[in-house]
Amino acid sequence: MEYLLPALIFGGLLVGLAAALTVAEKFLVNYGICKIDVNAGDRELEVDGGQTLLSALNESKIFIPSACGGRGSCGYCKVTVLSGGGPVLPTETPFLTRAEVRSGMRLACQVKVREDVEIKIPEDLLNVKLFTAEVAGLRELTHDMVEATFALQNPAEISQRAGQYIQLQAPSPEGIVSRAYSISSPPSDAHSVQIVVRLVPGGIGSTYVHNLNEGDVVTFTGPYGDFRLNEDPDAAIVCVGGGSGMAPLKNVATTVLEQWPERECWFFFGCRATGDVFYLNEFEELAKKHPNFKVIYALSEPEEASDWSGETGFIHLSLDRHLETSDRKRQAFMCGPPPMIEAVMKVLEEKGFDPDDMFYDEF
Ligand SMILES: Cc1cc2nc3c(=O)[nH]c(=O)nc-3n(C[C@H](O)[C@H](O)[C@H](O)COP(=O)(O)OP(=O)(O)OC[C@H]3O[C@@H](n4cnc5c(N)ncnc54)[C@H](O)[C@@H]3O)c2cc1C
Ligand code: FES
Repeated sequence: MEYLLPALIFGGLLVGLAAALTVAEKFLVNYGICKIDVNAGDRELEVDGGQTLLSALNESKIFIPSACGGRGSCGYCKVTVLSGGGPVLPTETPFLTRAEVRSGMRLACQVKVREDVEIKIPEDLLNVKLFTAEVAGLRELTHDMVEATFALQNPAEISQRAGQYIQLQAPSPEGIVSRAYSISSPPSDAHSVQIVVRLVPGGIGSTYVHNLNEGDVVTFTGPYGDFRLNEDPDAAIVCVGGGSGMAPLKNVATTVLEQWPERECWFFFGCRATGDVFYLNEFEELAKKHPNFKVIYALSEPEEASDWSGETGFIHLSLDRHLETSDRKRQAFMCGPPPMIEAVMKVLEEKGFDPDDMFYDEF
């Protein structure tokens, strides 16, 4: 106990010193104009030194995924820094493997541009754009889920792959923040973007979406994400989701049925209780038209008095019951909370899925 007060004072002094150094750097140190070389001369940028690599790239209209909005808590903003990035910071190491550190991988939101920098980013990211769009439709799906459809204004078209996401810009007391939302509308609908958002109490981005009105104008960047649908119609597709993880799976399933109406496609979705079920009727209608589309919803906590006649229990148990063990070509797309993804991956591996054919987003 007697050591607690000095330790607290010492800790407070360190935090104060770090804050003072940050402020001093901002106002007293001038790094001048620095150059950023992207992909060996593909783009040459000139930016004000002293800012983070993430904001310098954003300013130059190169939009790196940043689901946490630059707070250093998502690990999405990875870029390879070939020179000029300084040493790897303790705030980055939790998100980087040793191999990534060796290859020069860094978190763009933590790297400060203090000299000329050379970076390498996937070509895909050079196609990410900033969009403005009008809210064209809002639909309440459950007590806490809303579907929002945005009609694109500028640019008027988007080119996306099923399963990708956008980063919506939402106002907050600290300024504009970005939040990632998966696209639920299929790539064939190039003029609009639909998202499905669960309200997180007190959450900035989700409250913003739930309070939108038709006619409002929104801005977002995108598309982002690594989901890649196998184009081989003989490869079966398995979608598994829960909670707010509906949007990318709806996009994948709709795209599969649009392009290959006979293709084998499974749609597993876990909800807590009947009040959390949505889109089931739409999927059942699709299943009537597409005999190889199988829809399985399961409730983990069904109400005793409910007339639910579907499956119960966690969704990975439904997967275990329905999927055969096989080494045939199959691809799985998963979206939902981390414990669900972990349980589902274990079942899929036992069923013979190749880890390279499993794609997931956790949230
Ligand atoms: C790739 C990707 C795709 C995503 N797609 C979707 C999607 O399609 N639909 C969707 O609804 N969400 C999706 N998310 C989650 C979304 O980006 C936000 O994290 C979520 O909406 C919460 O943001 P917020 O601004 O409302 O809350 P914040 O202001 O960020 O957080 C407010 C508080 O709530 C806590 N919190 C944050 N997230 C959650 C959560 N999920 N559950 C409980 N507490 C939380 C925080 O710790 C904080 O205390 C996706 C995330 C990623 C990374
Ligand atoms: S933007 Fe989230 S860690 Fe960098």
